[in-house]
Amino acid sequence: MPETFLIETPRLRLRTFQLADVAAFAAYRAAPEVARFQSWEPYSYAQAADFVAAQAGQPIPAPPGTWVQIGIALAATNELVGDCALCLAADEPRQGEIGITLAPAWQGRGYAAEALRGLFAHCFETLGLHRLIAVTDCENVASVRLLGSVGMRREAHFRQNIWFKGAWGDEYVYALLREEWPIK
Ligand SMILES: CC(C)(COP(=O)(O)OP(=O)(O)OC[C@H]1O[C@@H](n2cnc3c(N)ncnc32)[C@H](O)[C@@H]1OP(=O)(O)O)[C@@H](O)C(=O)NCCC(=O)NCCS
Repeated sequence: MPETFLIETPRLRLRTFQLADVAAFAAYRAAPEVARFQSWEPYSYAQAADFVAAQAGQPIPAPPGTWVQIGIALAATNELVGDCALCLAADEPRQGEIGITLAPAWQGRGYAAEALRGLFAHCFETLGLHRLIAVTDCENVASVRLLGSVGMRREAHFRQNIWFKGAWGDEYVYALLREEWPIK
């Protein structure tokens, strides 16, 4: 029932992407600082429009092994301020990986932490997942701070495990178990 997907937090709504999100999504997906630690390069407007059209109305979660993007919108106005993503493991769908992006103008307000806590509650309490992970470039200071602040444990530090944008990169893996939720 993708059209009914909704996670509400005090200031935000996590919801399916809508065609009206294209302008906001295109603006932040075009920003080099947003793309810096992501697997993709800055998007053109046309790429962003195609992406939103493909995501709009998708079931959340997607079938195991497939990423789905979840819009993060202001509760007050429904304006898109970023997105998080969820992928259930193909071989063990009780485990999932998450990711998150906020538009630069909306960073530094605690929205990312609020969105992740809402997503964790949904994943553990509604979907009944066992374990969530997040993978981040070790140099992504904002992401490292965020994942620690929402209670994820750093479980792995991989050295030069990924050829990333022209150089070998280091990554941290963070994890959270359902039995560790809610964070005290
Ligand atoms: C990673 C990312 C989502 C983090 O966003 P963020 O804005 O730093 O995180 P939050 O929204 O939780 O904001 C936290 C900051 O807001 C501040 N803040 C302001 N008002 C706040 C409030 N009401 N509640 C909580 N924090 C608040 C906090 O002090 C905190 O600052 P600090 O980290 O310097 O202590 C963001 O940097 C981003 O989108 N980066 C580009 C994409 C990316 O690399 N994603 C990660 C891929 S793995």
